[in-house]
Amino acid sequence: MRLCGRLGSGPSVCGHLTRHLVLEIEMQGTDVTPARIDPPAQPLRLIQLLRTVVRNPLESWPSAVYQEHLHRSRVLGRDAIFVMHPALIRQVLVDEADSFDKGEMARRALEPALGDAILTSDGARWRWQRRAAAPIFRQEHLRGFLPSMIAAAERTRDRWLSLPAGVEIDVAREMMQTTFDIVLETMLSGRSNIDTAAMERAIADYLESTSWMMVLAMIGAPRWVPYPGIGKARRGREHLKQLVDGLIADVQHRPAARNDLLSLLIETTDPETGRSMSDMDIRGNILTFIMAGHETTALALTWTFYLLSLHSDVEERVKSEIASVTAGSSLQLEHIDSLQYTKQVTQEAMRLYPPAPLIAREARRDVRIGTEAVRPGTVVYVPVYAVHRHAELWDRPDVFDPTRFEPDAVKARDRYAYLPFGAGLRVCIGMSFAQMETTAVLAVLLESLRLRLRPGYVPEPKLRVTLRPAGGMPMRLVRPATGAAVRTVG
Ligand code: HEM
Repeated sequence: MRLCGRLGSGPSVCGHLTRHLVLEIEMQGTDVTPARIDPPAQPLRLIQLLRTVVRNPLESWPSAVYQEHLHRSRVLGRDAIFVMHPALIRQVLVDEADSFDKGEMARRALEPALGDAILTSDGARWRWQRRAAAPIFRQEHLRGFLPSMIAAAERTRDRWLSLPAGVEIDVAREMMQTTFDIVLETMLSGRSNIDTAAMERAIADYLESTSWMMVLAMIGAPRWVPYPGIGKARRGREHLKQLVDGLIADVQHRPAARNDLLSLLIETTDPETGRSMSDMDIRGNILTFIMAGHETTALALTWTFYLLSLHSDVEERVKSEIASVTAGSSLQLEHIDSLQYTKQVTQEAMRLYPPAPLIAREARRDVRIGTEAVRPGTVVYVPVYAVHRHAELWDRPDVFDPTRFEPDAVKARDRYAYLPFGAGLRVCIGMSFAQMETTAVLAVLLESLRLRLRPGYVPEPKLRVTLRPAGGMPMRLVRPATGAAVRTVG
């Protein structure tokens, strides 16, 4: 494992930081280099490469992806191209988007659970589903979701405040629970009879096996080839499907439609053809929203808390911005736009730890990317994690610095250097939803609590479709000083 957490100005400290160093970091609160994956020192041989991909695909990416514009690789006769230069990324995701589809790797990893839904489909099937679902994510609906987001964050805050002082929690699990709570409220009007722990386990079991599916796709093995954990993945997938089928049946039999995502999806029609979604389409898309929506947002929040714990000066600034923008009132949609610095912090957290660290496509026909000829069947990767740390695109790329997202700095930068939500027609449909959610949860929790990383702990960013901290994110809760009031936001 090549994992490193360093003091920016001091010596490199790989593996575990000592308690002394962490305390020093807490006191300094500045110029700390957060955990990162270093590329392999030598090119990996085939078996080593496949083993590394199964363990953590990020560890298999060569140093070229952090330094060069484009990098070609060939595994067992199959071509793959990593594209890092913003102009070339634009070609893949925008200008030449029609020459690519999602590809076998993404389909193999996600289709068994999600079916042929918005995230996994291509061509006409994708186009009509995207057209039908787009209105659901417009501002007028999002506004209605904000109270549910605030209420879920408040339930987490109250649960934390009821714990003994100084207790350690796994923030990764806690954020999964919070964003899952939000999913249930906003997508399904809060189905209290759902066993959320079982559902989360089913998702984790399924995602855990995806790296095997990716390796098998990489070497061109047929889909029936078994792999370790296949039984667990299958059970997880079936559990998710049964659960969502039950929810759809419940909604179809209830008298009045509610303003939740599931009801909106059942009612929505393609504005061009008037076509509505079948039960299979609805199931696939609700599962997609659950998987694509709750996990990614939870990770954005988890990594943000981690970074704030290393940078108490930034944390202070966020806390005071929240206090001055809300000025004692409940959090409103308008506030979200005014929380500029808070937004910059989450943007910078998603630069260092993009919740979706890899975008993959497969060429459908002969096409050129820059001067490179790309043949049909070639896999093209946009390695978002590496683009966000690319030596040519970012000054001191491994350093956490939210000023990179000040409006003028953003304007001066190429749009395709920063892609946490992707780009082009397939840009994340839930982007505004997620941005509102992360800000709302941070605003509620940071107002009354702080989180401090377990001394000596260095989280390992691990790619499992999403970017999870392997081993979780153990953090200590620091409650408000005695006598300080906990104000309810919302
Ligand atoms: C911080 C949170 C999130 C991140 C970082 C994120 C990231 C992404 C990225 C990178 C893509 C593009 C994938 C590609 O081009 O291959 C994507 C697509 C998608 N996301 Fe998100 N997402 C987030 C939250 C959400 C939420 C909250 C929802 C729904 C409630 C959602 C639903 C989707 C769907 C349906 C797609 C497929 C869009 C299409 O192909 O047309 N995402 N997301």
